[in-house]
Amino acid sequence: MRHLIDTTDISVEEVDRIISTALDIIADRKKYSEVCRGKKLATLFYEPSTRTRLSFTSAMMELGGSVLGFSDAASSSVSKGETVADTVRVIGCFADIIAMRHSKEGAPLVASQYSEVPIINAGDGSHAHPTQTLTDLLTIRREKGRLNNLTIGFCGDLKFGRTVHSLIKALSRYEGINVVLIAPEELRLPSYIRREVCDKNHVPTREVATMEEVMPELDILYMTRVQKERFLDEEEFERLKDSFILNPERLRNAKKDMIILHPLPRVNEITREVDNDPRAAYFRQVENGKFVRMALIYTLLEWAKERPTSQTPRIADDLVRGEMRCGNRQCISNCEDVDRLFRPTETGDYRCAYCESKVKQ
Ligand code: NCD
Repeated sequence: MRHLIDTTDISVEEVDRIISTALDIIADRKKYSEVCRGKKLATLFYEPSTRTRLSFTSAMMELGGSVLGFSDAASSSVSKGETVADTVRVIGCFADIIAMRHSKEGAPLVASQYSEVPIINAGDGSHAHPTQTLTDLLTIRREKGRLNNLTIGFCGDLKFGRTVHSLIKALSRYEGINVVLIAPEELRLPSYIRREVCDKNHVPTREVATMEEVMPELDILYMTRVQKERFLDEEEFERLKDSFILNPERLRNAKKDMIILHPLPRVNEITREVDNDPRAAYFRQVENGKFVRMALIYTLLEWAKERPTSQTPRIADDLVRGEMRCGNRQCISNCEDVDRLFRPTETGDYRCAYCESKVKQ
């Protein structure tokens, strides 16, 4: 059974195939309007969402399938204490595929270990958001015509912004990518991504203090919201929330064909005047999200036809069991009774399999 829990669960060739399918859907919507007839998607959203959940819903409807699920953990059995593992075993009896959003990092990975149907990670804590990445890749492909030889600036909350983590992982697998990080000190990209993704894949990566100093070089400016809900200290959020604001003045030196992306929701980090600039691609990006999710649902259901015999829990080959504990309080391994699983790193350390935090031995 194939799932999409992390961007790198699918190869570059498979990503390219999903993007090609999305382009084919855009070219001929009718051809795909019945391909999921009789199939059901369950959307299990334990955390607020507008775009992602409705985009999945609309994607499945356009494929001819139907949708069930919940958009609020309080209205599900989770409020009675049901675990993620039990929930997906139950939902697997009602649905053919599951999209899950959860505030605890690694919850979709736990789900994939127990599920009899494909699981799609629709965002887990500040960890990952692979379907937003597919959306971003399709948008870049449509707007720029390529996924290689690009200089991309990531601006805003690079610490908690899960879309940034997943997109950097995905882009680092293409040739000629340059990454520029624009963030306040407190919201810098997690160092493991810088080291184990950028440095390991030889992606030139640098940090700068202002957008203006790099604007002329950028092919893509990826803006993000400061993730209020992830802050433990409200005062710190107040201090950082207005760190970087994109306005027409700051765009003056940008390339004529640069594109501005944002996973949305936007708060105040892009002023309204920018919306009328042809380089503002963030609303076009939303529509691409629906097309790429159509391609993903269709592809995962096709892959599921070659279903292996049931055997739970399923654990990836490169993981090891250990007695250590993950120190991240937002990790699912600290909230539910799950197998203690770790991924050995090249430096002899271990990372938690669920949230990728470094684990002390
Ligand atoms: C993002 C998310 O949920 O991580 N939104 C989305 O899925 N389009 C970004 C955000 O919430 O800031």
